[in-house]
Parts: sequence; structure tokens; C-alpha cells
Amino acid sequence: MKLTILGGGGFRVPLVYGALLGDHAEGRVSRVTLYDTDAGRLTAVARVLGEQARGIADAPAVIATTDLEEALRGADFVFSAIRVGGLSGRAADERVALEEGVLGQETVGAGGIAYGLRTVPVALDLARRIARLAPDAWVINFTNPAGLVTEAMSRHLGDRVIGICDSPVGLGRRVARLLGADPDRVWIDYAGLNHLGWLRGLYVDGRDELPRLLADPVLLDSFEEGRLFGPELLRSLGSIPNEYLHYYYFNREAVHAYRQAERTRGAFLRDQQESFYARMREPGTAALLTWDRTRAEREATYMAENREVAGAGERESDDLESGGYEQVALALMRAVARNERTSLILNVRNRTTLSALDCEAVVEVPCLVDANGAHPVAVSPLPYHAVGLVAAVKAVERAVLEAAESGSRAAAVQAFALHPLVDSVAVARRLVERYAEVHPELSHLGRA
Ligand code: G6P
Ligand code: MN
Repeated sequence: MKLTILGGGGFRVPLVYGALLGDHAEGRVSRVTLYDTDAGRLTAVARVLGEQARGIADAPAVIATTDLEEALRGADFVFSAIRVGGLSGRAADERVALEEGVLGQETVGAGGIAYGLRTVPVALDLARRIARLAPDAWVINFTNPAGLVTEAMSRHLGDRVIGICDSPVGLGRRVARLLGADPDRVWIDYAGLNHLGWLRGLYVDGRDELPRLLADPVLLDSFEEGRLFGPELLRSLGSIPNEYLHYYYFNREAVHAYRQAERTRGAFLRDQQESFYARMREPGTAALLTWDRTRAEREATYMAENREVAGAGERESDDLESGGYEQVALALMRAVARNERTSLILNVRNRTTLSALDCEAVVEVPCLVDANGAHPVAVSPLPYHAVGLVAAVKAVERAVLEAAESGSRAAAVQAFALHPLVDSVAVARRLVERYAEVHPELSHLGRA
């Protein structure tokens, strides 16, 4: 089995390789091709993988290349994990939005729209090439904003592209453990869009155990989302929102806290990773150890401002082990490659799962996965407050897709203006202008 990783010089690639090293079953991945536009990063990451593989007899062979066609040919699976514009691009997405008084975040609100506008054209181009060079490959999209990017790629790849995120599965596992249930045996009723979903029920032996959690203040205070949202809001919603909904329900506070911060998350990660890749260029650096320390620091500071806003205190170590992207990707790949039927929460085309959206809309819902791909499963109908947000954000995504495909300034303004977290069309217009100034790839959207 041949796996190709687009964005193979990325910081999280060792997590994926680590997961592959633990798989010794027949039909496992035996060859990993890392593709990246940055040869220096490829070398750095290949060094970490080399150390990870030491002493493991059946470790998958690693090939690194900057030639996309070579990377794609013969691939059985393609992981797409790219970051257009790098972390400095992300930092600019966040900064410009915050300067305009709206949320600057990688995937949510104005920052997410800017990132989408920059990423969709590249993702569409990759999808076209994959369809030509590796038409039978299954494509697993990690690239954020994951729902939107998956939908863009699905225009060329149909249901062969599946988007993943670790946050729904992480939430499901945390809630299952709290309720004393085996996370692998529960059925999780979760639905929405990527980073915009709600856990509506958690079934054990045919019984919904979520009401028990909602009624128990001690349990509610003992996990990340419980502390982030607080018992009153959770009870009134009757569900547990994805942690990214904190940006919606506490938007004003999040924007305020982010504007106070010395650096945005993107700027922090940019500085951290620059020093990581620089150290990797020095001969004699212990590659795996250096990588692992950087990773631990990164995880510990994740969503720190939101926790502060909520008075939620430190992250507990339990909250950190979410199962991880790499575990979701590996489980998905296994189910497809070996026809081992399993259920996972994934980003796929809606068909008729959420009645408020059309069939082509990519949604994040539980799916049955087998050798024929990911099949979305019926979920409880969304309540109106959720339908409202999901439909509004899907309209934004559609405007982003249109702007990315046509280069239309009007569509770009519409994308920002329609977003529930952008409160004025005037702000939307200024955002388009500012993003056109700071991102060369968006300069065509600036005023003529
Ligand atoms: C979560 C989200 C991802 C995001 C990741 C890292 O796992 O689901 O979409 O990429 O966190 O966020 P960070 O801010 O550390 O890049
Ligand atoms: Mn995610």
C-alpha cells in the first residue's frame, strides 16, 4: 500500500508516521512518499521519521520529493495536509481580522474565510491532478478549513475525498469516558459542519447517557468543554457543542482576549516552528527529541485564551489525548483498505443527512466506512439555533468557493458580510481590501 502525504514537510507528519509504525497487519502502508514545495522542511521531517523507524523491522519506507507528479503516481491513499502561505499567512489572516475588531482565527470567522480564499484554488488544482494521475486513490483531507476544502476537492473527486478532524472524535471519547462507557462501543449522535457541530446524544446499549452528564454538575466541571461552556449553557442547549463554538457563543470575549494577546496563535506557531526547522538544519540535533518537545509545548498552549476567557484553568492531560488526527486517518484508511467496517465522524457530502442543506454540501456527521468509502448515517434533526448557524456558514463557504473560482470581489465581500461573526458590510469591504494588500495571492480582490 502506497501513501502519499502532500505537505510532507509539515510538523505533524511524524504523528502520522508514528501511527503507521504501530500497524503490523497485512495490507498496511509499506511506502510513504512525502511531497512538499519546501525541500529543507522535507529533509528535516525525514530525519525525524528516520529516528522514529530505528529498530522497527517493518517500518514503511520513506521517499521525499518536490515533484508532485512523481508523488501522486501509483498512490493508493493521498493525505492532503498543506498550508498555503505558511504560518506567516495564518498570522496575517488572524491579525487583519483582529485589527478590524472581528475574530482572527485559523478556521472560524473572518480569519477562516481569508484562509479559505487562499487555499481553495490550490486545493482545486491538487484535486484535478489527483483525478488525472491517481484516479483510484482515496484522498483524506486534513487541510483546514477542512469542511470547505473537502467540498472544493469533492467537485473533482466526488466521494473519493473525505475530510477529517480530531475534534468530534475527541469530544465523543471524553464524554464516553466521563460516563464510564467504552469509547469504542458507544454511538455518538453528532452533526454540523467542521468546527461547527454539536454532540446531541451518546448511546450505550440503546440508552442515551448524555442527559445523565448534563444533570451532573461535578461531571460537567471535569472536562474541557464542560468548563469552557459552563453547565447553564450546556443544559439549555441540551447538547455539548464542539469547542470551536466557543468563538460563536463567547465571541465578544474571545475577540477581546485575542486582541490583548501579545501574539496570535499563528504568530506563536510560526516562531516556534521557525526555530524548530532552524535547529534541524544544525548537524547533530537529536531530531525526534527536538520535535517531541516542540509538539508538547504546542499542545499545552492550544486554545489557551479561550480557557482563560471561560476561567476554565489548565488543560487536563485527559483532554489532550483526543485520539488525534493521525488515529482518525489511520482508522479510516484501514476500514477502506481492508473493508473492516467501522463508524467515524467525517466530512462528507450530505446527500440527505441534514435537511437544511443540499446534497453536495460537505457536512460533518457519523459515517459507516468500508471499502466503498464513507456513508453518512441519519442523525437527529438539528434544532433551529443549529440550523441557523450551519446554513449561514454554508452560505459563506459557497461564496468563498465562488470567489476562489471566479476571482470575484463581490463574492469575497459577500463571504465576509454573510458570516454571523462579521457584524457589518462595511467591515467586510475593509477586510477584503486589507487581505488583498497583505496576501499577494489575493491582490486581485483589491479595489481597482
Ligand atoms: C484541533 C483542530 C484542528 C487544528 C488543531 C491544531 O485539532 O481540530 O483543525 O488544526 O487543533 O490547532 P493549532 O492552533 O495548534 O494549529
Ligand atoms: Mn479540525
